[in-house]
Amino acid sequence: MVKIVVIGSSSMDLVVTSDKRPGAGETVLGSSFKTVPGGKGANQAVAAARLGADVFMIGCVGDDHYGAAIVENFKQNGVDATNVEPVTDAESGTAHIILAEGDNSIVVVKGANDHVTPHYVKKSLTLIKQADMVLIQQEIPEETIEYVSEICTEHNVSLLLNPAPARPLSQNVIAKASYITPNEHEAAVLFDGLSTEEALKQYPNKVFITEGKDGVRYHDGEKEVLVPSYPVEAVDTTGAGDTFNAALAVALAEGNSISDSLRFANRAASLSVTKFGAQGGMPLREEVEETL
Ligand code: RIB
Ligand code: NA
Repeated sequence: MVKIVVIGSSSMDLVVTSDKRPGAGETVLGSSFKTVPGGKGANQAVAAARLGADVFMIGCVGDDHYGAAIVENFKQNGVDATNVEPVTDAESGTAHIILAEGDNSIVVVKGANDHVTPHYVKKSLTLIKQADMVLIQQEIPEETIEYVSEICTEHNVSLLLNPAPARPLSQNVIAKASYITPNEHEAAVLFDGLSTEEALKQYPNKVFITEGKDGVRYHDGEKEVLVPSYPVEAVDTTGAGDTFNAALAVALAEGNSISDSLRFANRAASLSVTKFGAQGGMPLREEVEETL
């Protein structure tokens, strides 16, 4: 079993389904409302656990009802939540999601996730040093990503950075991360001034640009490679990126090749969108392997 440490956000997703997405100043009637566990960090931790990794989450929740439900959800999914602490001066993170017109739109309120500071993460340094792979995203403070990239480099631990949601990153972080997985929009923010082709060529076998149902693009040192995705009937694409990142981390940590790992990640992500909720369709290991 590979050991994966996820450093990131844990939130509650408040999901409204509606035929129409309201414009500014407009009110529409929705058809359903559901509260489900989410947050990019938590989603990636749960996805990795379902794929058979030994997963440890480092994060913060509020000292509230959502926080307790988030921790319970980690336990139910076999994620070690010893390093998920409640804070008293912020509420649990929430994501306010509208599913309409075949796509989602999301407002994230980070809340307690802003307490995942370098000082907080440092308390789990021993755990981080033992990881086969560390996974991080951008719903926590920027200085934490800087700090984690430093300690992973210093202790020779592989780091997979999912630069979502989009935010510019220092050259230092880009250099230190082992793998970076932007979508096209995030890539444009990260590699400002470079075309997709140039960005991929500059970071062979390191930057993987995800293009949704078109697949994933990377440069193998000789040429650009497109790893196609699997066509599915999408019910809810929320969390597909998280499933992709978790699966990629697990497969790479297990020592698989980059192209095999990307295929595995694409397959896991495609299964995840067939059910409602960020964590709803996240597959078990067998389900991915049966359909590869
Ligand atoms: O990546 C999907 C996640 O992003 C959702 O679960 C929601 O919490 C948002 O932050
Ligand atoms: Na889903």
